[in-house]
Amino acid sequence: MPTRPYVIDEMISAKSIAARIENLAREISDTFKGTDKLVVVGLLRGSFVFIADLVRELDLPIEVDFLEATSYGDSTESSREVKIMKDLRGKIGGRDVLLVEDIVDTGFTLKHVVGMLNARKPAHMKTIALLNKQSRREVDVTADWIGFEIPDEFVVGYGIDFAQRNRNLPFIGKVRFTEE
Ligand code: IMP
Repeated sequence: MPTRPYVIDEMISAKSIAARIENLAREISDTFKGTDKLVVVGLLRGSFVFIADLVRELDLPIEVDFLEATSYGDSTESSREVKIMKDLRGKIGGRDVLLVEDIVDTGFTLKHVVGMLNARKPAHMKTIALLNKQSRREVDVTADWIGFEIPDEFVVGYGIDFAQRNRNLPFIGKVRFTEE
């Protein structure tokens, strides 16, 4: 539970997110056209709303699987140590994989998970992140598709939390602390 009082200022509306996802889904459907073995892997917990909306716009036969990784705990700072809390249920060797992430911040999570999944020898792997904070990057990694570039702000909503709160907001908002 967050310990300091804060308010949330809307940054990206639900309508803008939906419009962007429609475009991204069209590009992804074109890229993977003809595949009969795409596995869409959601990185829990932050991507659960994004993946739900994204897969419903994909014009492809897909399977869905989930992986849980954690690096933030209850703070607004990454620990830089990525722990896998839950692995995939299915095998991805020889399959096409789309890894779905909520935010790429320092990049530690995406780099770690991509390395781990590549070691399982998928036929192809692509990555998508709803949000990208390029100015915060500490390791060299980028997602193949990015929904929105955002500044160095702590954001919540649309699946993304602050100490497990605010995941159910329909928009992306930035956290503004009201007391020092
Ligand atoms: P990275 O390993 O630093 O790139 O962090 C990636 C993960 O940290 C994301 O998947 C989020 O779960 C979390 N994260 C990064 N920035 C934020 C934020 O602004 N709000 C909430 N969670 C964040």
